[in-house]
Amino acid sequence: MEERFVAADKSGADEGEVTLRPKTLDEYIGQDKLKSNLKVFIEAAKMRGEPLDHVLLYGPPGLGKTTLSHIIANELGVSIRISSGPAIERVGDLAAIITNIGESDVLFLDEIHRLNRAVEEVLYPVMEDFALDIIIGKGPSARSMRLNLKPFTLIGATTRAGMLTGPLRDRFGVIFRLELYTPKELAQIVKRSAKILNIAIAEDAGREIAARSRGTPRIANRLLKRVRDFAVVLGGGDIQLPIAQKALDLMEIDDLGLDFTDRRMLETMIKKYGGGPVGVETVAASIGEEAVTIEDVIEPYLLQLGFISRTPRGRVVMAGAYKHLGLCVPESLKSIFGEDGGAGESV
Ligand code: ADE
Repeated sequence: MEERFVAADKSGADEGEVTLRPKTLDEYIGQDKLKSNLKVFIEAAKMRGEPLDHVLLYGPPGLGKTTLSHIIANELGVSIRISSGPAIERVGDLAAIITNIGESDVLFLDEIHRLNRAVEEVLYPVMEDFALDIIIGKGPSARSMRLNLKPFTLIGATTRAGMLTGPLRDRFGVIFRLELYTPKELAQIVKRSAKILNIAIAEDAGREIAARSRGTPRIANRLLKRVRDFAVVLGGGDIQLPIAQKALDLMEIDDLGLDFTDRRMLETMIKKYGGGPVGVETVAASIGEEAVTIEDVIEPYLLQLGFISRTPRGRVVMAGAYKHLGLCVPESLKSIFGEDGGAGESV
């Protein structure tokens, strides 16, 4: 995938983003419902003197799953160990990690949907009974041994809850879906980050960056840093609205936060496939992206804007997208959705 200024990819935090990460739930902006429920669960676990139940966090990349896991450990007053589904290749890798976890500590497993089946099956009794069943030896002399572990909290994160097996999902006592952030929340995040990074930014410039960040804090923080680069080179260093607008325009991020790849996908669906329905694999092949990138990174925001919809027969481009791209809304959409073709309120 080419470098995208607005891609909240899975490569983890940007350099420096760690320092931007809030450390407590009170510092954490947005996800209000999740936060208030999580506060109760953390408080209850602390009052009982027990580890917090296992937590599953899911949602598009860049919304703060890793950040939240650090916060949970911090609020519980415990240590956190970090690994990921693809990094744990064998049962032995898992054993090495979990036999070293302290009582009530947190183990964060990113991309938990990518655990291999053999490891996942060993994880079931680990999660349920804090028991690690390992097979020693091979063939007829092989025997199973059970190791008792200290109780701990597993926090699993995934962009694809649908790819988790039922048995794994069922073993999480707390399941949270992270939502895209509102422009207002993102503006608060930009303001907070600018303060930490010592960047002088006007309120309206912060709102402009927020509005073009596709509901995603990681993108907002990245755009803030890139806009600062433009402000330093082209202006006096401070971020005022005109320089923010100019910088974002130069990076080809439009007023709704769509970038070149988003627009290319919509245009391809319209021009090559009559606006759909078209399968995600077909679109992916046409624009040279992976289907999972479309599903995890590109689509969530376009769905939220109402620019595309998912149907059993494939993706369909909606009227709002035509209008945004300056194209005529096809009669077929108007006949289904009325004169605005289903553009609704979102554009
Ligand atoms: N930085 C990144 N995400 C954040 C959030 N949700 N709240 C505050 N600062 C953040």
